[in-house]
Amino acid sequence: MGQGTPGGLSRQGLPGDRKHDGDKKDKKFEPAAPPSRVGRKQRKQKGPEAAARLPTVAPLTKCKLRLLKLERIKDYLLMEEEFVANQERLKPHEDKNEEDRSKVDDLRGSPMSVGNLEELIDENHAIVSSSVGPEYYVSILSFVDKDQLEPGCAILMHNKVLSVVGLLQDEVDPMVSVMKVEKAPLESYADIGGLDAQIQEIKEAVELPLTHPELYEDIGIKPPKGVILYGEPGTGKTLLAKAVANSTSATFLRVVGSELIQKYLGDGPKLVRELFRVADDLSPSIVFIDEIDAVGTKRYDAHSGGEREIQRTMLELLNQLDGFDSRGDVKVILATNRIESLDPALLRPGRIDRKIEFPLPDIKTRRRIFQIHTSRMTLADDVNLEEFVMTKDEFSGADIKAICTEAGLLALRERRMKVTQADFKKAKEKVMFKKKEGIPEGLYM
Ligand SMILES: Nc1ncnc2c1ncn2[C@@H]1O[C@H](COP(=O)(O)OP(=O)(O)OP(=O)(O)O)[C@@H](O)[C@H]1O
Ligand SMILES: [Mg+2]
Repeated sequence: MGQGTPGGLSRQGLPGDRKHDGDKKDKKFEPAAPPSRVGRKQRKQKGPEAAARLPTVAPLTKCKLRLLKLERIKDYLLMEEEFVANQERLKPHEDKNEEDRSKVDDLRGSPMSVGNLEELIDENHAIVSSSVGPEYYVSILSFVDKDQLEPGCAILMHNKVLSVVGLLQDEVDPMVSVMKVEKAPLESYADIGGLDAQIQEIKEAVELPLTHPELYEDIGIKPPKGVILYGEPGTGKTLLAKAVANSTSATFLRVVGSELIQKYLGDGPKLVRELFRVADDLSPSIVFIDEIDAVGTKRYDAHSGGEREIQRTMLELLNQLDGFDSRGDVKVILATNRIESLDPALLRPGRIDRKIEFPLPDIKTRRRIFQIHTSRMTLADDVNLEEFVMTKDEFSGADIKAICTEAGLLALRERRMKVTQADFKKAKEKVMFKKKEGIPEGLYM
């Protein structure tokens, strides 16, 4: 619109311009006419002409190419449009899935309790039990995969109505899978001083039946099911079991007696059953139960429910050792330092046939144990271990180890690189003193 005024002006001037053009072109108008007006005039003249005419398309092929390109882009855009339309159509579907899922989660409730499927009644009903409380007749929700349900499997239950809402896939009790020794312990037979007879016996009773069962068949005897290692504390029972685990290629399951004591009624025996079932699955295998006195004490009139439960755990152990299901490839090693307190039923022939005693080391063994534990220490020239070997004090293997460690620590305290005889003397006094005072061993280790 701002251009209106100059345009109007130029139109007014136009007719005059033309007349004068014809008569005196050079003289009168040259100074008066500004170059801009001339330009506009020309444009105005060309304008309508250009509108009426089609532009001449010079390079024909180039334009065709452009057309093709544009068509291609159009195709792409169409495709994109279709895709977006589809997305929009599918989106509610996903939302619906999400909604369904959250509904299922709502139905399941949280937290879910873990239970045991006792019996399947029909398609939609089952009898379940949890470790606390009685059994319940409940319904199975429709989204649970019924093909995988079988009596005895672990299930998830709604926390209030107790209906079956899910299935726990993992069958093996995590407690048992923890017991499996994956990495062989570092201790080997070479690290045991003396105890030759004990090593021989345990090899005969545990390793040989697993590696050469035919030898026992030839002679016509059944190999022993297990051994019990007993003796004073610190005489190398656990050490020997570790060495067995190190040398054998069989699966080694390690339990401490106290682990078998569980919180809920029935869980302890169940764990024992599970333990032997896993041992059987992974056979040939060795089950090592350390500190068996935690569950294996003599039966007497138990007063509390807890004691009775511990006894039941032991009875299950007896049952498993008896092995109604034959367990040829499972060997049991028990260890305790209070064999006299164990239930005689546990130790009767047929269950644990071999009892291997671990005595306090004699002079020869002491020398050997000292050698083993000082082999990696830097000793001064004046060290004479014979003095300690020949002493009249009673030493266990663990005491000897403690003396060596203590002597090393004393040297370290004074930033000496070598351990001297004086260190050993001090260390021995310290260890013996602590022993006499009744301070539990191991505190200084
Ligand atoms: N005969 C031995 N040769 C070498 N080291 C030994 C020997 N006996 C014991 N030891 C040392 O004593 C330590 C403790 O021994 P271990 O754990 O086997 O005792 P334990 O008999 O199982 O005692 P507890 O009955 O208290 O469980 C071992 O780590 C080992 O270093
Ligand atoms: Mg031990």
